[in-house]
Amino acid sequence: MKTVAVCLVVFGVLLAIASSTGDARRGRGAFEQTCTGCHALDRAKVGPRLRHIYGQPAGKDSQFGYSDAMKGASVTWDDATLDRWLADTESVIPGNDMAFRLDDASKRADIIAYLKALSGK
Ligand code: HEC
Repeated sequence: MKTVAVCLVVFGVLLAIASSTGDARRGRGAFEQTCTGCHALDRAKVGPRLRHIYGQPAGKDSQFGYSDAMKGASVTWDDATLDRWLADTESVIPGNDMAFRLDDASKRADIIAYLKALSGK
């Protein structure tokens, strides 16, 4: 009985890890499909450059003209803040100019894994 309980706990933990960890390779495809209309990795477009965004404070691309909301933000981009940002930007930086949201949590995790891999962190 005890073994069964331990197995169930281990299985639950593995499941939680699997669902919260993104896949950078899938993330690259998802990024190209959903983000590159507005973002490029190495040049400002409708939105700022994103190659080194993971681990950086928000609103610091010198080539990009941010909204006042974004300039005044004190957020650092990590797994948690990026996930909330992509799900609902207003909940992270109210009044920002990024008119986009990604409802699919596993796609968000994949894209975040891709941005993390690009940043080398
Ligand atoms: C419709 C255009 C559009 C789309 C699509 C879009 N973004 Fe953005 N994004 C923006 C704009 C504009 C800003 C700057 C907002 C501001 O200045 O208020 C921004 C800002 C950001 C920032 C903050 C950058 C910084 O320098 O702090 C991140 C991170 C980001 N976007 C990630 C993404 C990702 C990942 C995707 C795809 C899932 C995506 N965006 C899709 C327009 C877009």
